[in-house]
Amino acid sequence: MSKLSSKPLVPLILGLDTSCDDTSAAVVRGQTILSNVVASQTQLHKPYGGVFPTVAKQAHQANVQPTIALALRRAKVTWADITAIAVTVGPGLAPALEVGVSTAKQLALTHHKPVIGVNHMAGHALSGLLRQQHRADNDPQLVFPPQVQWPVLAVTVSGGHTEFVLIKNFTEFQIMGKTVDDAAGECLDKVGRMLNLGYPAGPVIEEFALLGDSKRFAFPLPMTTVTSFNMSFSGLKTAARNLLAELTKEKPLTQQDIYDFAASFQRRVFDHITYKLHRLLSEQQVNQPISEVWLGGGVAANTALRQALRTTLKPFGLRLVVPLNTRVCSDNGAMIALVGGILWQQGRQSDIATLERQPRLALS
Ligand code: KG4
Ligand code: ZN
Repeated sequence: MSKLSSKPLVPLILGLDTSCDDTSAAVVRGQTILSNVVASQTQLHKPYGGVFPTVAKQAHQANVQPTIALALRRAKVTWADITAIAVTVGPGLAPALEVGVSTAKQLALTHHKPVIGVNHMAGHALSGLLRQQHRADNDPQLVFPPQVQWPVLAVTVSGGHTEFVLIKNFTEFQIMGKTVDDAAGECLDKVGRMLNLGYPAGPVIEEFALLGDSKRFAFPLPMTTVTSFNMSFSGLKTAARNLLAELTKEKPLTQQDIYDFAASFQRRVFDHITYKLHRLLSEQQVNQPISEVWLGGGVAANTALRQALRTTLKPFGLRLVVPLNTRVCSDNGAMIALVGGILWQQGRQSDIATLERQPRLALS
């Protein structure tokens, strides 16, 4: 039997992500998640109101091995079953990335496995392809990677990034527009902090917005005169700070004021994304039509964002593909394993001797 024909059709990948404040390990067969374990550091970083890199590194060091062991156990596989190890090399916090990359290299040597360096943002962009296990996944004829009508547009909205990515094929990405300052999630977190909503505030703002009047407070719509599809959230944040100072000059906010503020602010953040997306699609669908929009990133869990995006896509006849569950929206090892499996199929494993973290790694 030739070496090529002994290659499994659908690889079984251990994916590892330590790019920010979550230590995650997952086992994925093709597109199918067998396990996706996340050791969250949210409680550790709460007092800082954001991620503190050295604290993140220490927690990753403590959590990484148990997280991997649990991922293997939950997937009911052993090291012998694993085809390759995929690990996030960037972008992310350098000390945090270091833990994942060095762990993956050491495990690859110990267990004689190939290692594949993965771009974290490719993981978010493709995360909508992940699915849950079902029996047919044992079918040796299963097509992996799946057939996709290219190009596709990914809308990735997280605490570190907000971008529109044209996906031309599984490994060719073009950034069509991105935030020039804060990410949308970061902006929601910072304004949530001003309202004493804790960290991360994005999910709390979503809950509060359901109880508030989104038309009560007016915020500017940024960058409407700029023709690019780039976004900017820092002006919205400043507008929120100024309005809060004005409102609290004489008396503190009532609970209803806070609900209304959350609803109005969240709406404007999402208006900004959908306004730019609409402009992008108005051009894109004439020149090089996309077939679908894939949503990813922590903020993708937000139901109001999904609704606003669906409303924007409707006139274009486009479908919104959302990640399987909230764990797949935020940072997780499964999306890294998925991309690792695609790269492995293409014979693009990394050289273990030169593989290193790349904190500023770009997507295109
Ligand atoms: O993707 P992610 O877990 O980490 C990064 O790569 O940044 O995203 C975290 C971000 C945080 O800013 C958090 O507030 C936001 O996602 N987030 C949400 C929701 N769930 C998480 N924002 C709005 N609504 C949500 N339901
Ligand atoms: Zn992320």
